[in-house]
This record gives sequence, structure tokens and C-alpha cells, in this order.
Amino acid sequence: MLKDDLIKLKDAALADLKNIKDLKGLEDFGVKYFGRKDGELTRILRGLKDLAIEERKVVGELANTIKRDIETALEEFRGRLAAEKAPAIDLTISGIEPQTGHLHPITQFMRKVTDIFVSMGFDVVDGPEVETEKYNFDLLNIPADHPARDMWDTFYVKSQALPLTKGELEGVDHPQPLLSKEGSNRLLLRTHTSPVQIRAMESRKPPVRLIVPGRVFRHEATDAGHETNFYQCEGLVIDENVSMANLIATLDIFLKKIFGEKTEMRVRPSYFPFVEPGIEVDMSCLICNGVGCSSCKKSGWVEVLGAGMVHPVVLKNMGVDPEKYTGFAFGLGIDRFAALYYGINDIRLSYSGDLRFIRQF
Ligand code: FA5
Repeated sequence: MLKDDLIKLKDAALADLKNIKDLKGLEDFGVKYFGRKDGELTRILRGLKDLAIEERKVVGELANTIKRDIETALEEFRGRLAAEKAPAIDLTISGIEPQTGHLHPITQFMRKVTDIFVSMGFDVVDGPEVETEKYNFDLLNIPADHPARDMWDTFYVKSQALPLTKGELEGVDHPQPLLSKEGSNRLLLRTHTSPVQIRAMESRKPPVRLIVPGRVFRHEATDAGHETNFYQCEGLVIDENVSMANLIATLDIFLKKIFGEKTEMRVRPSYFPFVEPGIEVDMSCLICNGVGCSSCKKSGWVEVLGAGMVHPVVLKNMGVDPEKYTGFAFGLGIDRFAALYYGINDIRLSYSGDLRFIRQF
């Protein structure tokens, strides 16, 4: 009899479960069947003790099986109810890609250049972007009447000039008297990285091998190959028996390392007051493959650096004995190099702030 009751109860419970709509229904279901006092299943289980021992065993086993079945169905039902209530998450929808920045092409290229020179044994040295006439011109043997010192080529900083000492004017503190037109030491935005040659040697003795990557400024009419703000990388090597052949070999190795073994360069005599002899180095234009374009002024060649043997007067200004030591120096125009490297046909794009340009690198 109890057995029949149990089976009926199971069918009724499973049917009830299907009709539950919410948590309240679930709670009621629990009380109805499992309630401690009046739960239908509890009641039947309580009645077991009145059965004969044999029957109790059989019915007890069945009662437990049915209890487990109802509990399992109840658990499943609970899980389903919870899933229905939770907000739907579609794991297949692609997420929002976070926007990450990257290094500017000029910075990327400068790092490549620096890595190559470091692999060749050069140290990396830094210097100020706001310079004085003394370091930017005088100590580099650039005389007061040199056109580079004109207002038209150099950005002077409106500030009180630093007065030159009597010694500096008379050449007592320096082998060459300082030549500033106004007899003072005006502040300016450095026009090249060469002043760091002098600054670096104030705390060094030969032999030295160093580079100075950095930003420079010129009052220029801009075009595809000229900017008012651009980057250079200075190089300086001083030791005994350093020659022009060492300079050309160093530059040749550098150009081949960065642009590949087939890179062509040509050397032209040139004039910079701080070197003697001086040269300018051109590279075959990689944008037009030497045919001629606006970047190379239709010549097929791009001037990429100035260089030469350090002038004896400059060596003296560095506190180096020109009888014992010789040296070479070079100044790479990073923007023009980077333009050749990446195939950029106008160096001004680097400073345009146009993300469509920047994102290509
Ligand atoms: C100099 O600035 C010398 N200080 C280089 C030097 C160093 C010579 C050591 C000898 C020894 P120059 O003015 O030629 O030289 O500039 C060097 C390079 O900078 C040029 O070859 C060119 O690649 C780059 N450059 C010059 N002017 C600009 C400009 N307005 N915009 C972009 N790049 C420029």
C-alpha cells in the first residue's frame, strides 16, 4: 500500500515540478514534499517504522530512491531557473579592442640607428636642446660672421644673454677667444648636435667613441626635405691615428647595416668650420631608385650627413692635444634617413600629427 503511495507521490512531485514558475513556487514545492512536519514524503518515511521488518526494508529502499530522484530533478530545475534569470552572455561576440599606441617612426628609426652604433662600440651621450652661442658656434670654430649665426637660420631665445668672462673674450680660458658678435653668450635652440661634442669632452679623455641622438631646430623655409624641427645623430671618435679612411669605412658599414649590402653612397668635399677636411655624404634615393623625385630634388641622390676630421682648434677647445690625437665627427640627418628607410616622400608628414600617417608604422 505504502509502495503504491510512494510511486503516486513521485509522479505527482515530478508533475508539480514542471509547473513551478518562480522561486516562490520552488519554496512551496520544498515545503509540500520535504517539509519537516507535514511534508508528504516526510510523512511516508515516518510511517516506515510501523511496517514489518521485511516490508520496511523493501519500501525503505524504494522511498530513498524516490527521494533521490525528486531531489535530482529539483536540483536540475533550480539550475535552469537560475540560468533563465541571469543576463545572457554571448561569448562569441567579438570584444572591444583596446587602443594601444606605438612609438613614432622617427623614434623607432632613431633606436635602430643607436643600436647599430652601440654594436660598433659607441657610447650614447645626451645634451641640452637650449644651447648657448658658445657651445653651438664659438667652441666649434664657427666665426661671428658665419651665415649660420644669422637671425634667419637660428632661433634665438629671448632672455638675458649670459655674459662672457674676460678670459673667454681674450682666449685665456679657451685656446680661441669667443667670438660672439655682441660680446655676449646668447641662448638659442641648438641648430645641430655638434655642441655636444664639446660638452662630452669636458668630462672625457681620448680614446672616445660616442654618438649623440637628439632634436635640433633651424629657421628654414620648409619643403619635402626640410623642416624647422628635426633630428640628428652626431658621432665622434678621437684616438691616436684615426683617419679619413676610418670615417668612410664606419659610415659605409653603418649604411650597409641599415639599408642593406647594396646601398650606394657618394662622398663630396664640403665645408664645416669644425672639421678639416670636411665631406658631405649622399645616398642613392631609395624612393625613386635614383631616377629623380621631389624628395631628392630630381637628382637621384639625397644628402644625408655631414662629416670630417675634427679641426685641430676644436680638439684644443676640447682639451685634447692635436699633436697626439686625431678624430672624426659626423652628423646624420635622421629625418631624411627615416624617409628613405620607410619610403616617406615628405619629411614634414612626421610632424603632421595625422594618425592616418602614424598608424602605418
Ligand atoms: C650639420 O648640421 C653638421 N653639424 C654636421 C656635421 C657634424 C658635420 C660633424 C661635420 C662633423 P648640416 O647642416 O649639413 O650639417 O646637417 C646635417 C644633416 O642634417 C644634413 O645632411 C641633412 O640630412 C639634415 N638636415 C639639415 N637641415 C635639415 C632640415 N632643415 N630638415 C631636415 N633635415 C635636415
